[in-house]
This record gives sequence, C-alpha cells and structure tokens, in this order.
Amino acid sequence: MVFYFTGTGNSRFIAERVAEILGEKAIDISTYIKENKYGDFKEEGAYVFVAPCYVSAPARAMMDFIKNSSFPRGIKAYFLITAAVYMGSSPAYCKKMAKKKGFQYMGTENIVMPQNYLTYFKTKEIEENIGIVKSAIPEIDKFGNKINEGQMLTDKKIKFLEVPFTELVCIIYYNLFMKTKQFCVSGDCISCGKCVRECPYGNISLKDGKPVWGKKCTHCMACINRCPKTAIEYGKMSIGKPRYPGPNEVLKMDK
Ligand SMILES: Cc1cc2nc3c(=O)[nH]c(=O)nc-3n(C[C@H](O)[C@H](O)[C@H](O)COP(=O)(O)O)c2cc1C
Ligand code: SF4
Ligand code: SF4
Repeated sequence: MVFYFTGTGNSRFIAERVAEILGEKAIDISTYIKENKYGDFKEEGAYVFVAPCYVSAPARAMMDFIKNSSFPRGIKAYFLITAAVYMGSSPAYCKKMAKKKGFQYMGTENIVMPQNYLTYFKTKEIEENIGIVKSAIPEIDKFGNKINEGQMLTDKKIKFLEVPFTELVCIIYYNLFMKTKQFCVSGDCISCGKCVRECPYGNISLKDGKPVWGKKCTHCMACINRCPKTAIEYGKMSIGKPRYPGPNEVLKMDK
C-alpha cells in the first residue's frame, strides 16, 4: 500500500508513480485527517509512506497517522521523503517509528522537488521548477523499482546531535511558526473555493465568498501556492514571490 501526505502535490506525484510501478493506487491520508480518523489496515506486504520534509523531519501529519493507525505486525515499511534541499534527520524519525510499530524497516530516501515554503524561503520560477521535477522522475522510478523488487533503500547517516537539535527546532517551529493569523486574501479572489478543497486539514471555509482560516494548520502551503488568482498572501513575507502550483501543473507549462 502507498500512502501520502501532501501540500502542493510533490508527495502525491511521487506516491502515484511508485504506486503505478507496484500496480496499486496511492492513498491520500488527508481523507483520514479531515474526518479525524486513523486507519485499521489488514493487508500484508510492503507499505510505502511518502511525505514532505518539514523542518528536517518527516511532516508530522504522516508520523501521527502512522503512530495512530494499526497495521499488521512485521510489514515491510519504506519511506520516501521529498524536500526542497535535504531531508535532514528524517531517516532517524522513520526508523524509530518503524521500530515502535513493529515494522520491518526498509529505509528512507530523499527526493528533491520544488520548494513550496514561500513564506520563509525563496521559491523558484516555473522554468527552474520544471527542471527540478524532470530530474526527480528517474530517481522516483529507481526507488519504485527497488521497492517492487523487495530491495532495501539505502539509509543515510545522521550526524552526531542532529536528531536532538531537529527535535528542539521542530517543537519551537510547530508551536510558534505554523500559524494562520498572517494569511489574508486580496480583492482578486474569485470565490472559487479551491483553497478550501486543497487544504488537507479542512482548515479553510468560505465566508461571504472569501476564505477564512481556522487554527488547525500545518503550514503545508497548498492554499497560498495553488490559488489560481494569487489572491492569498502571508503578511508581507509572500509578496512578489513565485507560487508553486504543483508538479503536474508545472510540467503542463513545459514548452
Ligand atoms: C513547513 C515546511 C517546512 C519545510 N522544511 C524543509 C526542510 O527542512 N528542508 C527542505 O529541504 N525542504 C523543506 N520544505 C520544502 C518541502 O519539503 C518541499 O517543497 C516538498 O517537496 C513539498 O512537498 P509537498 O508538495 O508534497 O507538500 C519545507 C516546506 C514546508 C511547507
Ligand atoms: S483559491 Fe483563491 S480565488 Fe479561489 S476562493 Fe481561495 S483565495 Fe479565492
Ligand atoms: S490552511 Fe493553508 S497552509 Fe494551513 S494546512 Fe490548510 S492549506 Fe495548508
């Protein structure tokens, strides 16, 4: 089974390619998150978990889903982490989770995909993102084939004290920085509701045709990046920065 969590579609893109190689369908865990539910999975065999890297660790949404769902003991667990630069301490988190759940840990790989964190980082123009997505495709297929053949993925070495440092930064970050107060909408909004549909946490609703943000947000950046009218800003931090609409969307713009 292939599960993914995504903000801007990079993890979905990876999960769907890998699922196709495995002859399966990729499952979006946001359907569980939105209903406040966890899974009870009975299928034996290999499980693949695909998620973005947030603050040098796998997105908490995926880790919480694995922690609280039930799986058959001893399943093979593969982790694919997509990052704009590097997945940091993610392999240590995945390995620890696999141990906790009684999985057979099969490794964690990093796949570089376009940066989506436009509030705090510099996002790239479409042309450059097309190149990044194209370069990721052979990597994704290589890992998909390895998984299909039941091979281990290579596990990266983590530096001394990297994990406790990441843990500390994550606590600060998730508690202090992942806020919605600064999201705002301009007059360009056409009330299409895409931001509502894209939010994996079901955290946005339309009031008088305009989005209103609740407090349950993991800063996945789907709403701000995928608005068709670039009508969403995050205070002053996002002004003038290119939006990243997702891998399939940028590939469609390839001339
Ligand atoms: C909250 C947040 C934190 C991030 N932290 C990192 C990071 O520590 N290292 C990194 O290389 N990329 C980081 N990124 C970039 C994403 O991991 C990257 O763009 C990923 O491919 C997005 O996947 P998605 O489209 O499936 O959401 C971060 C993005 C967000 C939104
Ligand atoms: S996606 Fe953009 S245009 Fe559509 S409702 Fe949301 S803010 Fe408005
Ligand atoms: S409100 Fe926006 S940034 Fe927060 S979880 Fe929803 S889509 Fe992601």
